[in-house]
Amino acid sequence: MQIKTDFLVIGSGIAGLSFALKASTKGKVILITKSNEEESNTKYAQGGIAAVWHDTDSIEKHVADTLNAGGGLCDEKIVRMVITEGKQRVQELIELGTRFDKKENGDYDLAKEGGHSENRILHYKDVTGFEIERALLSQVRNNKNITIYNHHYSIDIITQHHLGAVVTSQTQGITCFGAYVLNTGNGVIDTVLAKTTIMATGGAGHVYATTTNPAIATGDGIAMVYRAKGHVKDMEFVQFHPTSLYNPGEHPSFLITEAIRGFGGVLKTLDGREFMQKYDSRGSLAPRDIVARAIDNEMKTRGEDYVLLDCRHLDRKGFIEHFPNIYDKCMNLGIDPFIKMIPVIPAQHYLCGGIIVNEHAQTTITNLYAIGECACTGLHGANRLASNSLLEAVVFAHRAFETSSSALEQIKIKDAIPDWNAEGTEQTEEMILITQSQKEVQQIMSNYVGIVRSELRLKRAFDRLEILFNENEKLYEEKVITRKLCELRNLICIGYLIIKHSMRRKESVGLHYMVNYKKKT
Ligand code: FAD
Ligand code: SIN
Repeated sequence: MQIKTDFLVIGSGIAGLSFALKASTKGKVILITKSNEEESNTKYAQGGIAAVWHDTDSIEKHVADTLNAGGGLCDEKIVRMVITEGKQRVQELIELGTRFDKKENGDYDLAKEGGHSENRILHYKDVTGFEIERALLSQVRNNKNITIYNHHYSIDIITQHHLGAVVTSQTQGITCFGAYVLNTGNGVIDTVLAKTTIMATGGAGHVYATTTNPAIATGDGIAMVYRAKGHVKDMEFVQFHPTSLYNPGEHPSFLITEAIRGFGGVLKTLDGREFMQKYDSRGSLAPRDIVARAIDNEMKTRGEDYVLLDCRHLDRKGFIEHFPNIYDKCMNLGIDPFIKMIPVIPAQHYLCGGIIVNEHAQTTITNLYAIGECACTGLHGANRLASNSLLEAVVFAHRAFETSSSALEQIKIKDAIPDWNAEGTEQTEEMILITQSQKEVQQIMSNYVGIVRSELRLKRAFDRLEILFNENEKLYEEKVITRKLCELRNLICIGYLIIKHSMRRKESVGLHYMVNYKKKT
């Protein structure tokens, strides 16, 4: 079936929903999402959204903290822009019905996280993302100009390549006409043609064996754009959150928000000793790359499987009020945080790199925008400052809306796009070929391309991934398309990009730490 629309939005997290609501004032929006519409990284965000809110804080301080965390690789112009525009975008979230916690005097209760010099994180208990997603979705569901297609999976974007043209990464004027979309309910592949397409597909956590990201995070948007010969950047900067709950067998890993360390929680080794001061004067509240590496080092040198987060000295009532979800989770596992320390380990959490965009969220492909975690805007550089991601998503969703809606009148929907050709393909009888390969990708990436890397490990990972790539391409050619098959293809692509970009960067900087390389100063 061919479907036509003004705006095609791929993804229903904070980025896609924020854009869709704004775009609906200018035209018809189709929002497709591969799972239930609320399932997204956004839904699980705990700590909150950073914004300069009180007089004690300033744009300059937030800019300085962001640049400092980013290891010298942030684009300062973008940092300043996001932080300057951020407050207005957060205000819009509030106007759309998002609740953030307040103190008794009516002021917002601003929290602190690693790398922030001020309390500036607006939050709703420890379930901020769930609250934002709830508020945005309730608006989107009531909007007549937005049609949601859930359980629809975007396979590839459509460009002139699908009309027979030869397209390379050097081709000028590659143009996006929409996307091929698989209805995972009935297996039909629709051709969705749009004047403007918005990639809002989120992160890629499942390229690693241990991640805080839900199962949807398979890097689809980045892989689709890379295949279409769009440009991507900074893929080596993979953020590992220092404190996910150590609970073997639980996938994805449950996050223990950094805000607990902002509230006074202290990291200790199994013998009850503090260790972070050895690594950084900011102790347990140093930026994430430093804390994750310190934990990794302590675990490896001591031969222990996890470290501990000590909350026993904290105010019980305040803790339960601020972190009810985490408290319940721990209690259900028999860990009373006021009696026992919480076992934690680092887990993949966020991808700083992604699809290159300019300050208007435009990719290198005409009429294709990228917003949210799948985009690389220049805000994060080599390491993202905590709670800057939700902020980046709303700022760039707004900018994408402004630019794309003003261009809408001039764009014609492309005709004569061929439907998806599935001729000669057959059903996959052995799902094990896909599930086992996915596990292999995750093992390769976790073991060789994790928190600490070396040239030898990267080379080994590259060679192993190449075998999986060749096997998977053959499956992709011969078998009927499924979501799992496409996700595996995308995960292999993401793994390849992370390794390739890691090999290229000949220094240790931010999240990219190579054992034998000099640290960038
Ligand atoms: P997502 O919210 O991940 O949404 C992506 C959407 O795209 C989903 O709807 C998905 O189904 C859809 N999709 C993906 N591929 C396809 C496809 N092929 N076809 C169709 N649909 C597709 N950041 C902060 O700033 N503050 C925090 O406190 C914070 N806490 C976090 C806690 C956790 C546990 C996690 C995992 C992340 C946290 N982050 C936090 C990061 C932040 O939540 C994410 O970066 C942000 O929510 C990403 O939003 P997004 O809209 O770009 O993508
Ligand atoms: C957290 O709550 O620790 C996560 C915050 C973030 O990822 O920005």
